[in-house]
Amino acid sequence: PLLSRIINVQDMEETAKKLLPYKAMAYYASAADDSITHIENARAFSRFFFHPRVMRAVSGCDTSTTMLGHKTSIPVYISGSALARLGHPLGEINLTRGAYKTGIIQMVSTNASLSYGQIASARGSPDQPIFFQLYKHKNDETAAKRIREVEALGYKAIFLTVDALVPSNRELDTRAPHYLEDFEKGVNPQHNSQAKEGETEILGTAGGLIINNDVDMTWERTIPWIRGTTKLPIVIKGIQCVADAVLAAEAGCEGIVLSNHGGRQLDYSLPPVELLYKVRKERPDVFSKTEVYIDGGIRRGTDVLKALCLGAKMVGLGRAFLYAQSAYGEAGVVHLARILQREIKFGMESLGVRSIDQLVPEMVERVDWQPA
Ligand code: FNR
Repeated sequence: PLLSRIINVQDMEETAKKLLPYKAMAYYASAADDSITHIENARAFSRFFFHPRVMRAVSGCDTSTTMLGHKTSIPVYISGSALARLGHPLGEINLTRGAYKTGIIQMVSTNASLSYGQIASARGSPDQPIFFQLYKHKNDETAAKRIREVEALGYKAIFLTVDALVPSNRELDTRAPHYLEDFEKGVNPQHNSQAKEGETEILGTAGGLIINNDVDMTWERTIPWIRGTTKLPIVIKGIQCVADAVLAAEAGCEGIVLSNHGGRQLDYSLPPVELLYKVRKERPDVFSKTEVYIDGGIRRGTDVLKALCLGAKMVGLGRAFLYAQSAYGEAGVVHLARILQREIKFGMESLGVRSIDQLVPEMVERVDWQPA
């Protein structure tokens, strides 16, 4: 369909799923076990309702904000997701160019399907901010080399993923016919993969990617170690309970992402918006110590605004951007960002705010019933 027929995030997802090769669709769409967390990530937003304010001047409403000090046109970033080339030959470059055109920020996965240098070179200008998502290699030297490489290439932050270090059970992906050649097509030689024939068939696409991850990371050892290798800000991606949010803030991390990897890792991990609500209630001090982001299940401008009211600085989308670039390349990424911008602006004006910092906890209420 014409891009102009795509009017919301859901349309983008449905269209891309029809266009994608089955294997790519299965890798992108898959989630852990029974997909309870994946489904609830999105559904949980429907338990939060607004208290819009009226009679508040809203002309000139501004959707822009900052993330780690970098300006962004909307409070939405592209969350690092592996193997964009499974969906489109230009893969991650579509995301970089689309991000530039719309003024949003891209996080690049360790398991990107183009080299980190190729992606950095696709920036529209040298000061277009891009962030790096790190799966720390179990060998410290290899990991340090990678961190130094991306820092030298101009990446502006390290997002250390801590929630998906071991293979998980993604049955859609596992059942899809899978061969080593398909896997290699999407593979950038720099990441942690070292799949052997047979292994990837059993584990699905993801299994081949995580073989060399450091599964022995700790707060005491790993954060100081990364600090010692780079000057870049460190963000922990994959916080799933209040206690770890506190530990990350106390460890001095510049940011945390409340995330369960889009429901792809441990089924029954709490939906991030529910966790955000809990952190707000139990440990509001976390928000003054570190920037808090969430990802998972965000499909609407109202989802974004609920998260911001509860204290999130930014929200990330994973699958939606993969789908957009798969179906329409760079233009799809631009279109998706504009859809979100329009929904966010409309939502802000209707809530009675004209700037992001006017979104406050009093504007949302959690209900204990599930809307139909
Ligand atoms: C991911 N995600 C992810 N996260 C990460 O830190 N490193 C990675 O390489 C990947 N790879 C990846 C591949 C695919 C196909 C998906 C769908 C996701 C997780 C991603 O960054 C993000 O946390 C979730 O996708 C957010 O959920 P939604 O927006 O997809 O619902």
